[in-house]
Amino acid sequence: MSLLTTLLSLSALTLPSLAVALPQTDAATGLPQYYHWNITNWHAGCARSGCSYDFNVTGPLDGIYPEFKAYCSGGDIGFFEDCELLEGLTNEGTGVPSVAARLEPSAQDGVARMAVSLSFQEETAGITHNITGTHETSYNAFVAPLEDFSIFVEDMTVTQVA
Ligand SMILES: *[C@@H]1O[C@H](CO)[C@@H](O)[C@H](O)[C@H]1NC(C)=O
Ligand SMILES: *[C@@H]1O[C@H](CO)[C@@H](O)[C@H](O)[C@H]1NC(C)=O
Ligand SMILES: *[C@@H]1O[C@H](CO)[C@@H](O)[C@H](O)[C@H]1NC(C)=O
Repeated sequence: MSLLTTLLSLSALTLPSLAVALPQTDAATGLPQYYHWNITNWHAGCARSGCSYDFNVTGPLDGIYPEFKAYCSGGDIGFFEDCELLEGLTNEGTGVPSVAARLEPSAQDGVARMAVSLSFQEETAGITHNITGTHETSYNAFVAPLEDFSIFVEDMTVTQVA
């Protein structure tokens, strides 16, 4: 058998198992493909003083990405407000996560345009990761029960600051 055919048959043997063993990452963000955050007890409503929201959000421990649970509340002011970190768990070399939430000013169409942002430092690499996910939900306070939903990688953007 020539060296070439040996290499070819070797790669034919090893490639399929490699494909299974490699972690599946999302091409656009580099996040794990099934990475997601769960929002529970979403509650948003408007009064004369303006619109407000509150909810809990969880994210899973996955490689450098820290596990967290945070309580977020604020108004439809269009910029991020810090959430309260209730629980956090990080792998070695990853700093404490910081979570923030944003609600766009209400367009009076019943649609609540919200965003969650997670930021943490990868200490060994000296990089700060910031992941922002957006979702459109509703102003449910007076018309519907509390809502649960998830934000998946297709609605996330990632920025890294060294
Ligand atoms: C958020 O989670 C905390 C702790 O698990 C719980 O006490 C609280 O009631 C939750 N709040 C909402 C809005 O779900
Ligand atoms: C989100 O909810 C799903 C379905 O209940 C669950 O399987 C998953 O572990 C949850 N993820 C997080 C980060 O809480
Ligand atoms: C993430 O980046 C956005 C856009 O630069 C910024 O507004 C937000 O405050 C950052 N989030 C955190 C938690 O630092």
